Amino acid sequence: MANKLPDGFLWGVATSAYQIEGAVREDGRGASVWDTFSHTPGKTFNGDTGDVATDHYHRLEQDLDLMAELGITAYRFSIAWPRIQPAGSGRPNAPGLAFYERLVDGLLARSIAPVATLYHWDLPQALEDRGGWPNRETALRFADYAAVTARRLGDRVAYWITHNEPWVAAWLGYADGLFAPGHTDLREAAAAQHHMLLSHGLAVEAIRSEAAKSDAQIGIALNLHDVTPASDEDADVAAADWVYGQQAASFLEPLFAGHYPDGVEPMSSTWADPELVRPGDLEVIGRPIDFLGVNYYHPRFVASPDHLVDLVHEGFVQTAPDHSHSFGFDFVELAHAEAARTEMGWPVEPDGLTRLLLRLRAEYPKVPVIVTENGAAFADRPDASGRVADPRRVAYLEGHIGALTDAAGQGVDVRGYFVWSLLDNFEWSSGYSKRFGLVYVDFPTGRRRPKDSYRWYREFIASGG
Ligand code: FCB
Repeated sequence: MANKLPDGFLWGVATSAYQIEGAVREDGRGASVWDTFSHTPGKTFNGDTGDVATDHYHRLEQDLDLMAELGITAYRFSIAWPRIQPAGSGRPNAPGLAFYERLVDGLLARSIAPVATLYHWDLPQALEDRGGWPNRETALRFADYAAVTARRLGDRVAYWITHNEPWVAAWLGYADGLFAPGHTDLREAAAAQHHMLLSHGLAVEAIRSEAAKSDAQIGIALNLHDVTPASDEDADVAAADWVYGQQAASFLEPLFAGHYPDGVEPMSSTWADPELVRPGDLEVIGRPIDFLGVNYYHPRFVASPDHLVDLVHEGFVQTAPDHSHSFGFDFVELAHAEAARTEMGWPVEPDGLTRLLLRLRAEYPKVPVIVTENGAAFADRPDASGRVADPRRVAYLEGHIGALTDAAGQGVDVRGYFVWSLLDNFEWSSGYSKRFGLVYVDFPTGRRRPKDSYRWYREFIASGG
């Protein structure tokens, strides 16, 4: 396999701050929208919060050792904005920066390249109180935060990711209401998307001017799917085009082609508003970056609701959740009835990753790709001897690494692969009910037990892929 991948290919794992750190009130950290949201009754499974999470903040050394033992060459983590600027602006909070400095130094001491994500959904609550992402001001504050962080860590961090999955933060946060801050307003979501993209471009400029490393690689991580119509009927093809347009093209086009795509109504009308998209914004958003981060979990089969009954007869089942109404377009999501699914209900289809990477190469041939997240939730628990056998996760990872290698063999410039996730963690609205880790975490004692998939990945990396 490895001979199809470039030298220096990054083999890593990924995590995010709110999902693992805990210690939410320590060392001056401010509140984020996820603290507020998870403490609001009814918003998360079982009322779970990230107050303790995996307690990574206190177990940093142990987790660094787990990474070293795994043999990864890169670690993708996120920096909590409310640890750096507790109220979202102003002078940085020294203990917050010091924590990430310890993390980065600990990685470098173990020969693991730090890949720092600036925003993995934990907006300082103080900024949400002033309008959050639908308010343009937030983009300017993000640029300041990027600057102070890059100034401190930019001599050691070689890879920066501005945003993680801004579609999720904008659309599940402001239109669908499933994620923080839990609003349900389509126009707010469209504005949030634009301001996140704008803040990305501003942060790219800030990192390039503040980071001491002149060869820092900067990118953004998008949640992307291989989107296929469930049949070749016009209405199903139109549904698939709309879904790819709304979720993928409406980020990829402004980032890499300088404009928002037409015809993704009702969003296109919002983006046509000159008060929202001001002169010069698209130039900022389109500032050259070094890689596109692809978070891939599963393909999406999409159809018009009118065909649901026929398609069920043809062997499809409808999958939950159904977000279609919140986004102003009627469609249904399906999966092949016999397809394997993860605990999230997501169909397992490694070929979808190959198809997605080939499509991206066809559409944006010059953009190198890093698979910044890929993984699966399965509920496997320790047996009497303490072993956690998770064969379905091993099969999932093996299949997807194979799919990415196939894409590389067909000319895709892919430079890294990160398993989501190192540890079982706080899976947002699903709380602690979904386990994505290579390492089992016993909540709330925090005890870690490497699963079989951890050992499999370790051997895979050690054998040179
Ligand atoms: C992605 C998120 C990540 C994790 C995985 C399962 O959408 O970026 O934080 O929740 O899904």
